[in-house]
Order: sequence, then structure tokens, then C-alpha cells
Amino acid sequence: VERVFSGVQPTGNLHLGNYLGAIQRFVEMQKSHQCIYCVVDQHAITLWQDPKSLASAIREVTAAFLAAGIDPKAHIVFNQSQVAEHAELAWVFNCVARMGWLNRMTQFKEKAGKDKEAASVGLFAYPTLMAADILVYRATHVPVGEDQKQHLELARDIAAKFNNDFGDSIAANGFNGGFFPLPEPLIQGAATRVMSLRDGSKKMSKSDPSDLSRINMTDDADTIAAKIRKARTDPEPLPGEEEGLKGRPEADNLVSIFAALSGRTVAEVLAEFGGGQFSTFKTALADLTVAKISPITAEMKRLMADPGHIDAVLAEGSDRARAIAAPIMASVKDIVGFIRAK
Ligand code: TYM
Repeated sequence: VERVFSGVQPTGNLHLGNYLGAIQRFVEMQKSHQCIYCVVDQHAITLWQDPKSLASAIREVTAAFLAAGIDPKAHIVFNQSQVAEHAELAWVFNCVARMGWLNRMTQFKEKAGKDKEAASVGLFAYPTLMAADILVYRATHVPVGEDQKQHLELARDIAAKFNNDFGDSIAANGFNGGFFPLPEPLIQGAATRVMSLRDGSKKMSKSDPSDLSRINMTDDADTIAAKIRKARTDPEPLPGEEEGLKGRPEADNLVSIFAALSGRTVAEVLAEFGGGQFSTFKTALADLTVAKISPITAEMKRLMADPGHIDAVLAEGSDRARAIAAPIMASVKDIVGFIRAK
């Protein structure tokens, strides 16, 4: 059976890249799949988080999921730390993955900065926990933005090595054809890599010191319009065809955002706006962004006013997630050779 899993870190400043690259896709996947969506609070603390801000960021991501249209009854919405099986499986995976594999992870290099010795062990082991998030549900499909591709490849490598290292035991425990599926990344749509509004060579990110670089899910309509007006562009008019976006990262980014928000292709967007000035296009883009994002922002605010309700959604989702994860983790213990009460 096909099962979707994905996660978002509660580290503040949820932005348009997170929405277009991930959350909007999560909403679509609900039509065709059983979906599990996780607020990955344990991943967040690989970099120090202020405890009060962390709790509020967990609720904010949850509110964004719900406000965007994720149905927590038909699917599962929860926070990672309430399901202990994630961390439990991550330990087994720490013993399956190789140092060399993790040493190649570009996100660690970026996030650790110059002083690698001072980075937390958790930041280094981040991808094994991510593999555990997915595989503790034996999930098969993982909608993510382009920046998570390398982590997904590592998750596949871990699944394959586990299946291979424990092949005989897996078969002896009655599982045919391997225990873990090799999870498939779903990196789809017009906006798998939304770039900074200030610099077309950098991705839009929660941690960019410039707030003008991103559209936050909590920005009001005026702020959104002002940020788009100030977005960096080049002096040429928009091209009529996709080819013409080559070497023009800022133009490419804005057109891709328009396409993703409107559900149209880049070609269709250029057919309408090609040859025109940026100012006209930016006005249309600002209107579209406000029309799409502001209702979500308003609903997030409404939900955030009742933290008790959000916490109840997370508690219920965690119970249902645990019910799937626990028997899978029990089988992992049997396969590895641990003794457990039966
Ligand atoms: P995170 O919290 O950084 O981002 C959440 C999702 O948003 C996508 N994304 C983007 N997409 C397009 N353009 C951008 N500029 C942009 N920035 C972020 C990310 O690709 C991601 O899909 N490691 C993950 C969280 C995670 C996870 C998992 C994901 C933990 N366990 C298991 C999938 C499955 C992360 O840090 O995402």
C-alpha cells in the first residue's frame, strides 16, 4: 500500500517556499493517498531553540497545515516528539548508516558553518532521524522541496542497507522482499525551489537575516505587496517563452511563483505577461499572492488563538501515528535480535 509521509520543522518564519514546495503539495496528496504529516520538533533542536518559541512554532506549523486544508481526521497530523518510535528507530539507523554517507550531506556543511567541531551531534545525525520518520511508517512517497533530495537518497540507502544487512532475519520473521520500502521523493510542481526575493541565487529560507527575502505565512496583505514590489529584478521586460528565463534567476523565480500559485504552467504565465514590464507583472503577482495566502494567514490566526484545540489535534494525531509505528518498531526489534515482552 502506498503511504505518504512528510515533515516541516518548527523553527519560525514559515514562508512561501515551504507552502509552495511542500504544504500545498501535502494538501493535494490527500486526494489519492493515506497521508501522515509531522511537525518535526526533534529536528528543530539540532540548533538551539528557545523553549517558549519552540512550543509556539510547533503550534504555528500545525495551524498552517490545518489552515491550508489538511484534514486531521481523514489523515494524520502530529508532532514528532510525541511518538517515541521515531527516535528509537533513528538509533538503529545510526548503526546502519556510515559516517562517510553523512559526511557527504551538504545541508550539514551549510548549517554547521565554519566551526564543524562546535556543531551538535544531532545536527550531524539529522538525516538518520529523517529516514526513521519516514520508515517507521514504511511510507513509500515523500513530497518535499528540491533541497531535501539528498536526504531522501540517504533514506533510500539506509532502507536498502537494513534490508540487506538483516536479509536472513527479515525472511525468518516472515517478511518477503525486504522489510523497508525504498521511499520515493516527490519533487513536483512549478516551485520546488523558491528563491530569495533579494538574491536569485539563494533559496528562500527561514534563517535569512533579511525579512524582505521571503514572504512569511504570517505577513499581512500590505507587507506581501511591498515585498513583491521591492523584489529584485533585471531591467529587461519579461520574455514570451521559457527559454528566455535562462540566466535570469530573479525573473524565473517570480514567474515560477506565479505559476505555482495559479496552478498554471510557466509557459502559460509567460504567454500572458511576456513582453510586458515587471511593474505590471508584479502588481498581478502581489494580488494573486495576497488572494491565496491571506485567507490561510487569517485562518492560522484564528486557530492560534485556541492553543488548546491545536494541542488536542496533535495529541490525537500522535496516538494514531503511534498505532502505526509501534508494530513496525516491534518487528524491527525482532529482526535486529532484541528481546522484548510479547
Ligand atoms: P524544512 O522544515 O526546512 O522545510 C519544509 C519543507 O519545505 C520545503 N522548502 C522549500 N521548497 C521550495 N522552496 C524553498 N525555498 C523551500 N524551503 C523549504 C522543504 O524542501 C521541505 O519539504 N528535513 C526537512 C524536514 C523533515 C522531513 C522529514 C521531510 C524531517 N523529517 C521526513 C520529509 C520527510 C526540513 O528541514 O524541511
